[in-house]
Amino acid sequence: SLCYLNGRYQPLDEARVSPMDRGFLFGDGAYEVIPVYSRHPFRLEEHVARLESTLASIRLPNPHRPDEWAAIIREVIDRNVWEDQSVYLQVSRGADDKRNHAFPKVVRPTVFLMSEQLITPPDYQREEGVACVSAADFRWLRCDLKTVALLANCLLRQHAIDQGCVETVLFRDGFLTEGSSSNIFMVKDGVVLTPPKSHLMLPGITYDVVLELAVSHGLKHEVREILEDEVRHADELWMTSSTKEVLPITRLDDKAVGNGRPGPLGQQMYAWYQDFKN
Ligand code: PDD
Repeated sequence: SLCYLNGRYQPLDEARVSPMDRGFLFGDGAYEVIPVYSRHPFRLEEHVARLESTLASIRLPNPHRPDEWAAIIREVIDRNVWEDQSVYLQVSRGADDKRNHAFPKVVRPTVFLMSEQLITPPDYQREEGVACVSAADFRWLRCDLKTVALLANCLLRQHAIDQGCVETVLFRDGFLTEGSSSNIFMVKDGVVLTPPKSHLMLPGITYDVVLELAVSHGLKHEVREILEDEVRHADELWMTSSTKEVLPITRLDDKAVGNGRPGPLGQQMYAWYQDFKN
């Protein structure tokens, strides 16, 4: 596939970054994953705005204006073959001549974009729902930043895979935060519930879309802190992300969620999401 690295469009297998790059040495960088449907980037402005916000929080000067980002993203999409894509964008604090935790005096960020075919969950996962496990959220206290330092998320995801599950649902101090790479919604007695944005979770673009759809369709919903015990007695549980869209969770730690089948509100939300994205 075709990627973009520091101003050059080139085959992915020819792209080279220095081993002194701070993205590699320190996980010092920001990223985004943007879903593309029929060659149209979904919620592009929101993804670029979140990138801007992550970069500002980690004190990495944004190398591009929003219109420049949009142009690069569109060019990467055009140069790849798939109708539906998942564009990965990363900005790191570049390379220095010595390994030094402190920022380089002159920062030349490494800007990298690639695209993959967008693979959304297969029909059988939609129809049956997926199994998840839970774990203590041992990540740092800036989970609102979309940074490439994802070791904790990788360990937490592998924890699910090792048990034949697809995602790990995280609890911190007895409250639901999110999944290892998704946000979590639950339904109880016809009300959709999800935690409020805070430093403890990523402000998901899909999370925003789902809440907007709940508002526009008059679905009862509440954004508030959710106790672990409430999650364990939920009627429905969903995970949301740019690549998973809205996916029902029907088992948690080997116990059925609700009646063990995908619930009506999750199926409704998925249908609204499909309409909305097209
Ligand atoms: N992950 N929470 C975490 C920790 C995430 O990594 C993600 C996305 C989300 C959902 O955010 P959004 O709706 O904006 O995709 C929530 C991406 C897809 C990834 O790392 O591949």
